[in-house]
Amino acid sequence: MSTWANLGLQDSASPLMEQLIFFHDHALLILVMITVLVGYLMFMLFLNNYVNRFLLHGQLIEMIWTILPAIILLFIAFPSLRLLYLLDEINEPSVTLKSIGHQWYWSYEYSDFNNIEFDSYMIPTNELSTDGFRLLDVDNRIVLPMNSQIRILVTAADVIHSWTIPALGVKVDGTPGRLNQTSFFINRPGLFYGQCSEICGANHSFMPIVIESVPVNYFIKWISKNLNS
Ligand code: CUA
Repeated sequence: MSTWANLGLQDSASPLMEQLIFFHDHALLILVMITVLVGYLMFMLFLNNYVNRFLLHGQLIEMIWTILPAIILLFIAFPSLRLLYLLDEINEPSVTLKSIGHQWYWSYEYSDFNNIEFDSYMIPTNELSTDGFRLLDVDNRIVLPMNSQIRILVTAADVIHSWTIPALGVKVDGTPGRLNQTSFFINRPGLFYGQCSEICGANHSFMPIVIESVPVNYFIKWISKNLNS
């Protein structure tokens, strides 16, 4: 069920998403201040009839209201650039996961572990368990260790897809013939849901992503179980 919490961003599960939320709030605060000030000024213009018959120019005020907004924009531009470069950092990953977009499902490869590979399809509503999330749960989840740097390689087999996990601050296009890279660090255990976010065809809405974040020893157990089967 939708609640008020769903109107904003999801709680972050990675340091980068935390920074993205801080930046969002920072930019929004500046936006609100500008909107209130300009709104107040425009509203007050309707409520007075002052006229200055001799007003032709005002060098000083024009200097001020040109330079001041430029300085305010710098307060958004510098944190934005900092985040942009931070998101691009790879930080010596300990696990690499390759995700391949298909019409209309994702397939995954753990290239570090004898190339474990599997497909991940959405569970149709009529097959969903009572505690499942409709249009969001998949048959085979990605299992990843928490508190480790993880590299994601994204590509696609047919058309452009997008591998997007809001709680981790990850959104990378999977493009046929290209290999895109990103990385993240999950700082708590849990299930993290995502969806494809490039309009990729009729079933675009039905290729969700589920990450199962587990402690490292559980991850090793999962890996060795899959290596033997
Ligand atoms: Cu794949 Cu939209």
